Amino acid sequence: MTQNVEKVLISQEELAKITEKLGKQITEDYKDSKKPIICIVILKGSLLFAADLIRHIDLPLELEFMKVSSYGAGTKNSGEIKIHLDLMREHLEKYNLIIIEDIVDSGRTLARLTQLLKNRNANSVKTCTLLDKPSRREVDFVPDYCGRTIPDEFVIGYGLDYDEKYRNLPYVGVLKPEVYS
Ligand code: PRP
Repeated sequence: MTQNVEKVLISQEELAKITEKLGKQITEDYKDSKKPIICIVILKGSLLFAADLIRHIDLPLELEFMKVSSYGAGTKNSGEIKIHLDLMREHLEKYNLIIIEDIVDSGRTLARLTQLLKNRNANSVKTCTLLDKPSRREVDFVPDYCGRTIPDEFVIGYGLDYDEKYRNLPYVGVLKPEVYS
C-alpha cells in the first residue's frame, strides 16, 4: 500500500498535535455554554479524525453520524445536498452542533450542510475540518476550526480514500499521480 504514497504530508505525530490543539480550542470556546454539544461525524472520511479529536474535548458531548454528498456545479440538482444517512435527532434548539469533516474542497458539502442544520433551528452550528484546500473553493465557505491548510494535492490516509482504499494509513500522504491518472 505504501508503495503508492509519494510522500507523507502530515505524520502521525503531527496529527496527534493537531487534534489535541483543536480539541483544547473547542473545549475553551464552549466551556461556558449552557447547552450540550453534539459532534456530527460526516462519514466516511472523518471517522479517524473525529475519534481522536473528541478525546481532547473535555466537555459533555454526544455523538451522531451523517452521510451526505453534494451535487457538483452544473448538474440538475446543483445547489442541493443528498442525504444518505440523516441525523436521527429532534429539538436541535437544545444543542450546539459541531460538524466534523476530514477535508473541505469546493466547500459545497459543508456550506449546504451548515445551512440545512441551521434551518432545523440548532442553537448553533460550527464546522471543524482536519484539512482545508482553499485553492479549490467554488462557494464562499470558511470552516470555524481547521487543522491544516494544504495545497491542491491528492491526499489519502487517516480516513481519506482513493477508490475507497488507503483510509487506514495512520498518516496523511500524497498519492502518486500515476495511480489515478
Ligand atoms: C469528501 C469529504 C467531504 C467532501 C468535501 O467526502 O469528506 O464530505 O468530500 O468536498 P467539497 O468541499 O467539494 O464538498 P466524499 O464524498 O469523498 O466521501 P467520503 O468521506 O465517504 O470519502
